[in-house]
Amino acid sequence: MTDLIAPHGGTLVDRQLRGAAREAALERAASLPRIALGARERSDLEMIGTGVLSPLTGFMNERDYRSVVQEMRLANGLVWALPVTLAVSREQAAAIDTGREVALTDEAGRVLGLLSVIEKFTYDKAMEAQACFGTTETAHPGVARLMRQGEVCLAGEVWLLERPAPQFPAFHLDPVDTRRAFAERGWRTVVGFQTRNPVHRAHEYIQKCALEICDGLLLHPLVGETKSDDIPADVRMDAYQTILQHYYPQGRTMLAVFPAAMRYAGPREAVWHAICRKNYGCTHFIVGRDHAGVGNYYGTYDAQRIFDRFSPGELGITPLCFEHTFYCRSCGNMASAKTCPHGSENHVALSGTKVREMLYSGLVPPPEFSRPEVALVLINGLRKA
Ligand code: ADX
Repeated sequence: MTDLIAPHGGTLVDRQLRGAAREAALERAASLPRIALGARERSDLEMIGTGVLSPLTGFMNERDYRSVVQEMRLANGLVWALPVTLAVSREQAAAIDTGREVALTDEAGRVLGLLSVIEKFTYDKAMEAQACFGTTETAHPGVARLMRQGEVCLAGEVWLLERPAPQFPAFHLDPVDTRRAFAERGWRTVVGFQTRNPVHRAHEYIQKCALEICDGLLLHPLVGETKSDDIPADVRMDAYQTILQHYYPQGRTMLAVFPAAMRYAGPREAVWHAICRKNYGCTHFIVGRDHAGVGNYYGTYDAQRIFDRFSPGELGITPLCFEHTFYCRSCGNMASAKTCPHGSENHVALSGTKVREMLYSGLVPPPEFSRPEVALVLINGLRKA
């Protein structure tokens, strides 16, 4: 495994307790104060525990939080793009002493982990919203979520004791697993692809452009919490398997899930997504048009430009940036403004919303937009959903 890319910060974090230490921690947890985690914090806890968020070993303290919000760096200078915090209500915070442990549970009260609270701090939601999402409007789903969450952050190292039940066990690979798989396959360069949508022709095209220069592709759909009008993860997973089976060389692709919740933080989330994929062992990461965007909050290529703020060395993973791609009827292939001389009347352009509407009403999008096999899986899946 020695020639794989180093994790962010140099060491792959492992904050999972096992065996007797885990049993003892679970016993201790029974008498500790409890915090029930929401969907995002559950996946954050799991990702800290398994090293996806290396070098983080817990929920952020105030110094790191402020530095990340203001400078996009941890207090030690390492690039980090988004806060990873545990916000609770003032009442909950008042009932918890610093220097003590709390049990972190799921909504049903099952203990998932422990947090050693070293600090409690209040924070400025509007400032975080403006810095991270570029807006304070609550029509933005990330801002709305931030405004709903508690007023006090609990900071400290965590231990993961119990994994939240994986929705797709066969595809739930931790960074150690993907790293091992890449090494076994002899992939020296691996491009990671983040998505919260089915793979359409534009996605396929940019993935395959990247595959022309990388040894392997990690198709890495986000399956944590997304906004309610995004296509459900189980329907997407069927569609990913279908497209890989029909249109990709088996030996050069791998499908695994990314358990994170979607933040909709556009440019900052692109950097954060890239760092997470570096921890999974990817050397390259695709950033296309309006990566992790929502509505019209970000410029089409803001999520690409943000990478210019960092030197390649300090990020470690290489962003592969792609322009808006489409099918051109005159070219007879997928293209972008960089490769196609024809006017937009020749281009098959459908908005994500339009395609979702078509799929929900059982209409097959044109083959220039979606592979027919994929469209059928989506239509059938959405019918049942
Ligand atoms: S995202 O929220 O996960 O970024 P989506 O699943 O739509 O949304 O996008 C996955 C990746 O494909 C992102 O890097 C995005 O920028 C890129 N992308 C999506 N559609 C296109 C397109 N038509 N042209 C170029 N890149 C695209």
